[in-house]
Amino acid sequence: MSSYILGIESSCDDTSAAVLKDRRILSNIIASQDIHKKYGGVVPELASRAHQQNIIPVVEVALREAKIGKNQLDAIAFTRGPGLLGSLLVGTSFAKAFALGLNIPIIEVNHLKAHILAHFVEEKPGYIPPEFPFLCLTVSGGHTQIVKVNSPSDMQIMGKTIDDAAGEAFDKAAKIMGLPYPGGPQIDKLAQTGNPLAFKFPEPKIQGLNYSFSGLKTAFLYYLRDQLKIDPGFIEKNKADLSASIQHTIIKILLSKLRRASRETGIRQIAIAGGVSANSGLRQQVVDMAEKMQWKVFLPGLQFTTDNAAMIAISGYFKYLEKDFAPQTIVPYAKSQFK
Ligand code: KG4
Ligand code: ZN
Repeated sequence: MSSYILGIESSCDDTSAAVLKDRRILSNIIASQDIHKKYGGVVPELASRAHQQNIIPVVEVALREAKIGKNQLDAIAFTRGPGLLGSLLVGTSFAKAFALGLNIPIIEVNHLKAHILAHFVEEKPGYIPPEFPFLCLTVSGGHTQIVKVNSPSDMQIMGKTIDDAAGEAFDKAAKIMGLPYPGGPQIDKLAQTGNPLAFKFPEPKIQGLNYSFSGLKTAFLYYLRDQLKIDPGFIEKNKADLSASIQHTIIKILLSKLRRASRETGIRQIAIAGGVSANSGLRQQVVDMAEKMQWKVFLPGLQFTTDNAAMIAISGYFKYLEKDFAPQTIVPYAKSQFK
């Protein structure tokens, strides 16, 4: 028999609800919060308040679009963490209360694992997901990881950033150039008309499969500061080339370790996930590398790259099959707990 899972995502500044019928997506509604733009970053208290306003209408629309009644739901999956505590509390409390009223189980989901499991959502009938084990490069605003995915519940972090995340590197570089938040998509757009080799920025020398992006950000900042002393119009004149060059460097850093992880494990099924996996340059270069390395590559659909509840619902579905339910006493966690 099929099961209907409602997913709730509220870890940062997107309020999202999605309904899956087994692995098939019936709806995936995302309400983004524009309020943070004028502050140049997410303001946690404002995010939490906006989630409170959005959560009920978003769930209503998700159920309506899925053409099911709330009584048909079999379970509710929610993001337990990591994320902003005030934001997570809204989704967690809503999931608990709604499930209690419907007398159905709740399922806790780790946001980072969910980004990876988004690859198992069936958007079109007959979609074939990655086979286990596969490697996933998760690149978001808060995290950068290479994960060996043995099964939906067994994932092993092989490498991660020791400071900034790749998304932060994009956002901070954009901020330095005076671009609006979030900067990743802006850099992506500008980079399309720029020369990726116009400027050269240093790549970090970090052991193993770990990453570091804070040095790159500082190098970018100092370089621009020096150039602005000579020509105050430097950024304006070189926006496209600067964007293309910083993007090129970030992608080069990301892919060199991914290639190494593939060599070390012998795994050639490669996925990317998280907000930065929407980056057109990264997507193209992963595909190019796949040809050289004989990889089978999985690029998420764009609606599954940034935060969304379909990825929470699919993670919930796998746990539902195992009857891995959470108690009503469960509380969110802010820091990454890969469990
Ligand atoms: O996964 P996500 O939506 O939220 C977190 O869990 O962090 O990722 C957000 C990050 C932001 O840093 C944003 O700038 C970046 O993903 N991002 C991009 C692009 N779209 C979103 N970075 C580069 N190119 C893009 N097209
Ligand atoms: Zn995310």
